[in-house]
Amino acid sequence: MLTDKVDQRAVRSAIELASHAPSVHNGQPWKWTVGRRVVHLNADRTRWLPATDADGRDLTVSCGAALHHVRIALAAVGIRAAVHRIPNPGEPDRLATLELAPGRTTEADLELAGAITGRRTDRRPFSDWQIPGDSWRRLESAAVGQGAILRIVSVGGPRAVLLEAIREAGAQQKDRPGYATELAMWTGRRAGDDGVPAANLLNARTTGMPASRDFPEGDIGPYPLGRQDGAELAVLGTASDDALSRLRAGEALSAVLLTATSLGLATCPLSQPLEVGVTRRTLRDDVLSGTLCPQIVLRLGWPPVGAPLPATPRRSFADIATVEQDH
Ligand SMILES: Cc1cc2nc3c(=O)[nH]c(=O)nc-3n(C[C@H](O)[C@H](O)[C@H](O)COP(=O)(O)O)c2cc1C
Repeated sequence: MLTDKVDQRAVRSAIELASHAPSVHNGQPWKWTVGRRVVHLNADRTRWLPATDADGRDLTVSCGAALHHVRIALAAVGIRAAVHRIPNPGEPDRLATLELAPGRTTEADLELAGAITGRRTDRRPFSDWQIPGDSWRRLESAAVGQGAILRIVSVGGPRAVLLEAIREAGAQQKDRPGYATELAMWTGRRAGDDGVPAANLLNARTTGMPASRDFPEGDIGPYPLGRQDGAELAVLGTASDDALSRLRAGEALSAVLLTATSLGLATCPLSQPLEVGVTRRTLRDDVLSGTLCPQIVLRLGWPPVGAPLPATPRRSFADIATVEQDH
């Protein structure tokens, strides 16, 4: 049995490890409430980006990624979590309640937990080596295991449509009031414990990078003009588009990213075409043939040769968690 003391320290370190989860603009829009046998995950709406993420999808997907990270981090230290997603419809910001009990650690838990601190959002052009079929199958089953579908968008018709939707979303967001301000506030940072550092952004617009968001200029590169991005593209989708589906999409995003990292692949989530109504519908109807609700796009591939990317900063445990001993 776990003693209370071990419980508290193990749970705290699991939450600290889970804080490495990806989030839109590294806003880390989550708050944890930690009891003796229970952990609650709450959305932190003070970190919502209304101009970028008008319908709150990115915020819920980010929290879903943190939820999967914490489940893996707990499992890796022998704690089983029974998860109740959106346990109280009257309290929409309470996204999950985890009931903790002693459990067993599997090899798979350890493999994914081991990938958490090494995962990076990599915006550099990827090598043009193909991802082998058995690696794709592992990525697809990682998504299915969390209740979502990873649809590979192969070269040809759908890929061209997806690339055009990414370009169109960028063009529309440029004119959206508040979008540029949020981008300037949250990205291209030189200090702080949140936001996207300049050290993780490209230092000049690299041609051959059509699948990317336009960020302020950063420190990586430059890459030679004409350097093509060899990344493969995939869309993560769910059967519905309610809050529960978005949360599960975030869990699936985390599972796919950590599996990819453990396979040595580079990854970059792209949410821009989901943030604009018209391009979101294009993804649903013309890329996914109307069969799934798209939740996020992914660039996947082999990383370029070069120095590893630095880790992005995270807020401290005291800033993201409240400990309540009496429940
Ligand atoms: C829901 C969501 C949306 C994101 N959208 C984008 C995006 O459109 N473009 C991009 O380059 N990165 C995107 N990211 C990646 C974040 O910027 C990244 O996770 C964050 O800066 C932390 O860095 P890290 O992933 O290297 O830890 C997104 C991440 C999440 C979870």
